[in-house]
Parts: sequence; structure tokens; C-alpha cells
Amino acid sequence: MTTLLELKDLKVHFPVRKGILFDRTVGHVYAVDGVSLSVEAGQTYGLVGESGCGKTTLGRAVLRLVDITDGAAVFDGTDLARLPEEEMRRSRRRLQMVFQDPLGSLNPRQNIESILAEGMAAHGIGADREERRAKISEILERVGLPAGSLSRYPHEFSGGQRQRIGIARALVLEPDLIICDEPVSALDVSIQAQVINLLEELQESMGLTYLVIAHDLAVVRHISDVIGVMYLGALVEEAPSDEIYSEPRHPYTRALMSAVPVPDPDVEDSRERILLTGDLPSPANPPTGCRFHTRCPWRQATRCDTERPELRDVGGGHKVACHWAEGIADGTVTPTTELAPTLLKE
Ligand SMILES: Nc1ncnc2c1ncn2[C@@H]1O[C@H](COP(=O)(O)OP(=O)(O)OP(=O)(O)O)[C@@H](O)[C@H]1O
Ligand code: SF4
Ligand SMILES: [Mg+2]
Repeated sequence: MTTLLELKDLKVHFPVRKGILFDRTVGHVYAVDGVSLSVEAGQTYGLVGESGCGKTTLGRAVLRLVDITDGAAVFDGTDLARLPEEEMRRSRRRLQMVFQDPLGSLNPRQNIESILAEGMAAHGIGADREERRAKISEILERVGLPAGSLSRYPHEFSGGQRQRIGIARALVLEPDLIICDEPVSALDVSIQAQVINLLEELQESMGLTYLVIAHDLAVVRHISDVIGVMYLGALVEEAPSDEIYSEPRHPYTRALMSAVPVPDPDVEDSRERILLTGDLPSPANPPTGCRFHTRCPWRQATRCDTERPELRDVGGGHKVACHWAEGIADGTVTPTTELAPTLLKE
């Protein structure tokens, strides 16, 4: 396997400014705070986590739509974080993003041909209008849009079709990596699976690599080869997709998983339910030590609130950022009652 994208200790900190006359920085939002991960060519990396944990910021940082504070984003051997703007502009063709809200990202006054041709012209794809039109027609067919869509406008399409247009807009640029940010969250449940299936088909036929961002575990499950779970700007767990569902190791992942209903009634009756108490802390003022310690049912008297756990391999490529991962797995470390928020089991 070849690595197409490698993030090394990537950080995006947004300054918080105050003052009317004298603009001064009073703090930072630690939106992405040291993420390392690899996306292999031809595979799908699913990135999940609660709202505000930094998923979109991470995706935007790879495209340099936000400034990278520190760390590296190595794409096909080149560190994008250090690329001069002009070279970055050229690299953007190979890195495309599909957004959550297809209507918001499509100009209502442009017809589909014009929307899709714009990026092609900017990156010098297709010699002339005829060539571009032929390519656009081919891609529209691939994404399952009716012939004759070229001259129509975004509002004439359904939500699912608009997301297909968003995907087509990325594909006409012949990208290597597509970052799909909540690609189906705005769609009806019945349409979600169709769009996910389409992404999968396109991956196979066109050799694409995806970074799929979602807050919903069910969305990324089938499409992902590897899943990373984010909490307050950092990865807490990463494992092959099946494994993270069958054997979640980090307390936060276990809580997330326990919120997903299981179709089998017997399993459903006996499954573990962990209700997280306490609010999600602000990324402008993250907890010390393990960022999850204010909500972790397994929090221990030592290390948890003082020492930030590294994301480390606990065997077979399964990575966990928890000081007590082994003990929690074998049952020698149990949920605490004095220190930790109560572990609620229904
Ligand atoms: N341009 C910005 N300036 C300041 N803070 C920002 C900026 N963009 C995002 N943030 C903050 O960074 C944090 C992470 O935001 P981000 O949008 O990356 O989260 P997310 O995981 O994509 O959430 P969601 O699931 O709601 O889309 C949030 O606290 C957000 O308010
Ligand atoms: S390090 Fe401590 S607080 Fe953090 S997840 Fe592990 S047990 Fe919980
Ligand atoms: Mg987001």
C-alpha cells in the first residue's frame, strides 16, 4: 500500500481576538491540536466525532483553506503546509472537497455545464468548450444524472441529485483524493445509501481515495477501510473499520458506539449503554491531561488529569489514546464512582 496523504502532528489554532481600538489575541481555539494519520491510496479513511471536534477544520486545512498552525500535511510526497500559494493552487486540482450542503455550494445562477466547466477551465482541463462539454456529459452519466442536465440549474434538482452534481464537480478535475465532508447528512435517509453506494462505485472504477467526515457512525461504517475517532481536536482511537465496531477500546468510542442501536433484538437487549454526562468542553479551553477526563467513566486517580495520552498501537494496528486501554479491555481497570461522572446503564 502507498500512502497518499499523511498528516503529522497537524495543528490548526484560531486566534480569539478582543478589543475595538487595539485588536489583541486573548486566546486560541484549539480546533485541530496534533493529529497524525495516514490515508492509503485507493482506500477510504472515515473520520468521526461530535459536532465541533474539528473534523471540517482538518479537511479544510489539508486544502489550505485555513492556515496550518503547525505540523505537516504530506500529499503524494509534498508537504502542503510549506507549499507556496501558486503551487498550492495547482495542487488543489488533485485534492477536491464535497460539501454537506450541495445547494449552498452551487451557484444558483449558473447552469450545471457552467458550474462544472469553471474549475476545468481554471486548471486547464479540456482544450475548448466542446471538449469540456464531452467530459462533463461523461461524468454526469457516471454519477447517474439524466442526460440533458447540462443546461439546467441547481434548483431544478432534488437534494440527492444536487449532491451528485457536487461529486461530478469534483470528478471533472480528475482528483486523486476527495474529502467528503458530511456528504449525506443533509439528505433523506432513503437517499443516503444511494449516494454512499455511488461513492463506492466511483472509487472502484476510478481508483479514488477518500477522506470521509461524518458525525454519524452508521454513514462511514460500510465505506471506510479505517476509522479515526476525534474528540476535541485530537484522535482518540483509530482502527480498521470492522474492528472499531466490534471492539471499541477508547471509553469515548465505547460511549459513541453504545448510542447506536443494533437491529438484532437479543443483542439490542443486552448491549452496553454508556450515557456521557457533563458538557462537551470548549476547544478554546480544553481540559488538561486526557481531554476526555471530565466525562470519562473510567477516569483514574493518577495520570488522567495530568498527562496527555499518546495515540499508541495496542496491537494489530489498533491505536488508542488512553493510559488505561489495556486494563479497561481486560477488566482490571473498572469504571470509578468517586472521581468520574457516573456510568449510567439502563
Ligand atoms: N474560522 C474559524 N475561526 C474561529 N473558530 C473556528 C473557525 N472555524 C471553526 N472554528 C471552531 O473550531 C472548532 C471546530 O470546528 P469544526 O467546524 O472543524 O468542527 P466539526 O467537527 O466539523 O463540527 P460539525 O460536526 O458541527 O461540522 C469549533 O469550536 C469551531 O467553532
Ligand atoms: S486516559 Fe483516563 S480519562 Fe482518558 S480515556 Fe483513558 S481512562 Fe479515561
Ligand atoms: Mg463540520
